Amino acid sequence: MSQKSQFVKFNNGLLCPILGLGTWQSKPGEVYQAVCDAIDIGYRHIDCAHLYGNEKEVGKAIQDKILSGVVKREDLFITSKLWNTYHRPDLVEKAVNISLTDLGLEYLDLYLIHWPMAYKEGNDPFPTNADGKVIYSDVDYIDTWKAMEKLVDIGLTKSIGLSNFNSIQIERVLNVARIKPVTNQVECHPYLSQQKLFDFCKAREITLTAYSPLGSPKRPWAKPGEPNLLEEPKIQSLATKYKKSPVQILIRYAIDRGIIVIPKSVNKSRIANNFNVWDFKLSKEDIQIISSLDCNGRLIPQAEGREHKDHPFVNVEF
Ligand SMILES: NC(=O)c1ccc[n+]([C@@H]2O[C@H](COP(=O)([O-])OP(=O)(O)OC[C@H]3O[C@@H](n4cnc5c(N)ncnc54)[C@H](OP(=O)(O)O)[C@@H]3O)[C@@H](O)[C@H]2O)c1
Ligand SMILES: *[C@@H]1O[C@H](CO)[C@@H](O)[C@H](O)[C@H]1NC(C)=O
Ligand SMILES: *[C@@H]1O[C@H](CO)[C@@H](O)[C@H](O)[C@H]1NC(C)=O
Repeated sequence: MSQKSQFVKFNNGLLCPILGLGTWQSKPGEVYQAVCDAIDIGYRHIDCAHLYGNEKEVGKAIQDKILSGVVKREDLFITSKLWNTYHRPDLVEKAVNISLTDLGLEYLDLYLIHWPMAYKEGNDPFPTNADGKVIYSDVDYIDTWKAMEKLVDIGLTKSIGLSNFNSIQIERVLNVARIKPVTNQVECHPYLSQQKLFDFCKAREITLTAYSPLGSPKRPWAKPGEPNLLEEPKIQSLATKYKKSPVQILIRYAIDRGIIVIPKSVNKSRIANNFNVWDFKLSKEDIQIISSLDCNGRLIPQAEGREHKDHPFVNVEF
């Protein structure tokens, strides 16, 4: 392997490759090849979730790459996420076991609470009543966290963390935590730089992981005419300056701030290009120029749960 990934160190001493492959909306039938290609190219970090409905195919790719000797399990970093319908403490171990079985793994490197909001327990990931509204559960994510800690105790995951938690919710978790979250995985890109949440987490030894770093151009609710990061003049002129592509500038924008980043692609040439970012570094001034695009531009608002008591993006600054 000619290109070598950098790592971020967690508060438990473990290392996480700073650049990983996202798998949301990677279809069964294409994600197998995407994960095989990524591992061949040098990726060692794969971001998965039960909700994505493709963990079996991701797992098949991981198994094949281990069996054929391309990579060892201990050199891979595999993340999965606890979906909202499994927050009740007695369901947490069952849920991680489903992901482990699907992925064909004995342990995860990282298991995240996918969202702070609990939904009604059961097999339907979006349980809805007659008027189409999601049915909530009143389980408190504090109690979910205590069940997550047990997964570390019994060796089903090396680290545990949060996703889509706001600063107040993180503080509540820290107040009860025996094992600290190692990361908070949140939307993060130039339109939503997350500087305040990043500083807040850093002060508490929690890393940030940037999802939708390219602005999630294929998000299902995108409307024509919405701003597109890849076409931003400031990003394009930096791409010209550094002789890289706009996407590579966006990926470096996370890496050079010390933020873990997980761009998704199922296209081999893009998977390779997205990993070809180790030969340059953005200057402090250029990072500031990119951050000036911040407009609180949240692209993943999780609209269907907005009345939930634990919705993270309502009535809070960050
Ligand atoms: N925790 C959470 O709640 C949460 C929420 C959202 C996302 N995530 C994670 O974060 C990952 C990344 O976020 P995302 O999938 O929303 O969006 P993203 O990574 O910002 O963008 C992915 C899109 O960009 C395209 N793309 C990738 N590389 C490209 C390139 N070099 N040139 C042009 N287009 C390119 C991909 O298309 P092709 O595949 O066709 O290349 C895909 O449509 C997800 O896959 C998931 O693992 C987590
Ligand atoms: C989860 O899997 C582990 C390891 O195979 C097993 O020991 C444990 O009993 C399982 N727990 C549940 C709740 O299924
Ligand atoms: C894969 O990505 C390359 C480079 O962006 C692009 O030219 C090509 O059309 C893509 N292929 C598919 C099947 O989307």
